[in-house]
Amino acid sequence: MASAHSSTTRECVLTSHRTDLATPPSKYLAVRGAERSVLEPGQVRVRNDFLQLTAVMADLMSENPGLPMPPYPVGAPLWGGAVGTVVESASELAVGTAVQHMKGWREESVGDASLFYPVPGDVLPGIEYFLNQGVTAHHGMADVAAVGEGDVVFVSGAAGGVGSLAGQIAKALGARIVIGSAGSAEKARYLVEDLGFDAAINYRDGRVLEQLAELAPEGINVFFDTVGGAQFEAAVQAASPKARFALCGTLAGQVDGGMGGFPRLDIMTAIVKQLNIRPFSTLHTPEQLAAWGTHYGRWLSEGKLVFPHTIIGGGLQSAPEALDALLRGEHRGNVLVRMAT
Ligand SMILES: NC(=O)c1ccc[n+]([C@@H]2O[C@H](COP(=O)([O-])OP(=O)(O)OC[C@H]3O[C@@H](n4cnc5c(N)ncnc54)[C@H](OP(=O)(O)O)[C@@H]3O)[C@@H](O)[C@H]2O)c1
Repeated sequence: MASAHSSTTRECVLTSHRTDLATPPSKYLAVRGAERSVLEPGQVRVRNDFLQLTAVMADLMSENPGLPMPPYPVGAPLWGGAVGTVVESASELAVGTAVQHMKGWREESVGDASLFYPVPGDVLPGIEYFLNQGVTAHHGMADVAAVGEGDVVFVSGAAGGVGSLAGQIAKALGARIVIGSAGSAEKARYLVEDLGFDAAINYRDGRVLEQLAELAPEGINVFFDTVGGAQFEAAVQAASPKARFALCGTLAGQVDGGMGGFPRLDIMTAIVKQLNIRPFSTLHTPEQLAAWGTHYGRWLSEGKLVFPHTIIGGGLQSAPEALDALLRGEHRGNVLVRMAT
C-alpha cells in the first residue's frame, strides 16, 4: 500500500443552492482544504489528473433541477467526470492504475474500488481523451436520429462538448452534409476547418433560418438540438418531410434563462411534414457505452474524428471560473481542467 505525503488535500464544494441564473456558478462554489481519510478495506485513493466540466453542472447546483441525475448537496464536494491514477490501495486495484470515475471536483478521490474504472493506457492518445461526451453524441445521432448515408444534418450548439462530437459522428456515419451552429464567427470557422463540418452558422447574427435555406435548399432531414428556442423553431421551418429531430439539450434556456426549453412548435408545419421529434436522455447503458467505445478509438486512428477539447491549467482552483467561462461560450469542445498546478 502506498502512503500519502501530507494530511490534507483540496476539494470544491457547493456553498448554497444556485437560485439565480444571472449569477455565475462560481459564486456558489468554494475550494477548501480537507483531511485525508484513512482507507477502509476495499477502497482506493486516486490522484486526479483531469476534471471534466459540462454545462449541466450549473443546473445541478439548484435545489430541484428536475434532471435524471442527483443534484449537488450543499456543503459537499460536487461530483463529475475525472480521470486519475491510483496512488494508494486497500483493494485489488493496483497502485499506478489509470482510472476513470465520477468523483471529480477534488484533487484526490477516495471510495470503493468498484467506483473506479481502469482505462487502457495505450488505446487513446492521452488519458484525458476518456473525458468526452461521445456516449450522448453517438446515442443521439446513431440511435435516436438514426443518421445514415445521404442525410443532411443540422447540429445546434455544435462547438460545445456534445455538439462538436455529434457533427463529426454524423459525417462518420455517412451524412452527406453536416451544418453546425455556434456563437461566433471564429467558432464557425473552427467547425469547418478543424472539425470537418461542411458549413457553419454564427447564430448570433440572427439569420439561422435564412442561412439554413441557403445551405440546405432541399431541407434538413436530421436535426440534433442542444440549444432549443429560436434554433429549434428555425429547424422546424427548414426541415424536409419526415425529418428526424433528436432533442438533446436546451442551452439557450439553461445558460441565460431564454426560451431554450420552451420553443413554440408550429404544429401544423410539423403535421404537414410528419416530423419525427424525439427528445432523449442518455442513460449510459452498457450497450450505449460499448457502441461509442467501439467507434471512438477507431475513428480517431482513422482520422475520421478529432477529440475537440480545451484544457484549462491552474489546478482545481481554476475550475469554478472555468465553468463560468464555459457558460459564457469562451471555450470549445469538451472542457477539461488539468489538476496539476
Ligand atoms: N440528453 C442527454 O442525455 C444529454 C446528455 C448530456 C448533455 N445534455 C445537454 O446537451 C446540451 C449540451 O451539453 P454540453 O455539455 O455539450 O454543453 P456545452 O455546449 O459545452 O455548453 C456550453 C456552450 O453553450 C453555448 N451557449 C451559451 N449560451 C447559449 C445560448 N443562449 N444559446 C445557444 N448556445 C449557448 C456556448 O456555445 P456558443 O458560444 O456556440 O453559443 C457554450 O460554449 C446541454 O443542454 C446539456 O444539458 C443532454
